[in-house]
Amino acid sequence: MDLAIVDRLLTTTRTVRRRLDLERPVPPAIIEQCIEIALQAPTAGNGQGWHFVVVTDPSSKAAIAEVYRKARAWYHAHPPAFLYGEQRDSDPDALRRMRDAGTHLADHLQDVPVLILACIEGRVERGSIFEQATLYGSVLPAAWSLMLALRARGLGAAWTTDHLIYEEDVARLLAIPAGVTQAVLLAVAYFTGQDFKPAPRRASREVIHWNAWPA
Ligand SMILES: Cc1cc2nc3c(=O)[nH]c(=O)nc-3n(C[C@H](O)[C@H](O)[C@H](O)COP(=O)(O)O)c2cc1C
Repeated sequence: MDLAIVDRLLTTTRTVRRRLDLERPVPPAIIEQCIEIALQAPTAGNGQGWHFVVVTDPSSKAAIAEVYRKARAWYHAHPPAFLYGEQRDSDPDALRRMRDAGTHLADHLQDVPVLILACIEGRVERGSIFEQATLYGSVLPAAWSLMLALRARGLGAAWTTDHLIYEEDVARLLAIPAGVTQAVLLAVAYFTGQDFKPAPRRASREVIHWNAWPA
């Protein structure tokens, strides 16, 4: 395995918002090939309850974008406390840049060539931590593999969950059955510009705990 290429893919696959090419069409065959690759991801008990709803219809994308913007407004009024740790607060410029890019994506979501909803059969809103981890853990690895496979072919994706605040609106729009959970909405397009860089992250020594959580 060429570690230089593999490590570059793993360290430079970013959520792309401003650099999605809204003009260049995406061939359906590339999407299908990347999903085929993503299906090699693990699922609990090899259940493979995953589904990928690929949306290219302009009126459906416009309706999803409306839900997304409504959800984003709610999110900004009620930010989930568990997401705002010291890391994020320590770099207000980075936070502002991300918010601006998020607004840009929200404004243009209907123009992104392909929206992919990764879903999984089952519901765990009243489930235990075990059930939640098992259900989401059986679809999110595939969604990340999909993002990696797309990136390797020159396509970028934005990983988004904001619309899930109004999950049922999108389920109704796309006829997603009641027993199915939507896990992530990927906004997919060819990316513009040359390449991506590794992002600033917490130092690994802060987050690796050998044998037990530090005292
Ligand atoms: C669970 C999850 C939910 C996310 N939801 C959104 C979202 O709704 N909208 C958005 O613009 N970005 C969303 N993101 C993208 C993150 O903001 C982004 O991955 C993070 O800032 C790190 O940046 P990077 O992808 O460039 O490494 C989400 C990412 C994850 C993992």
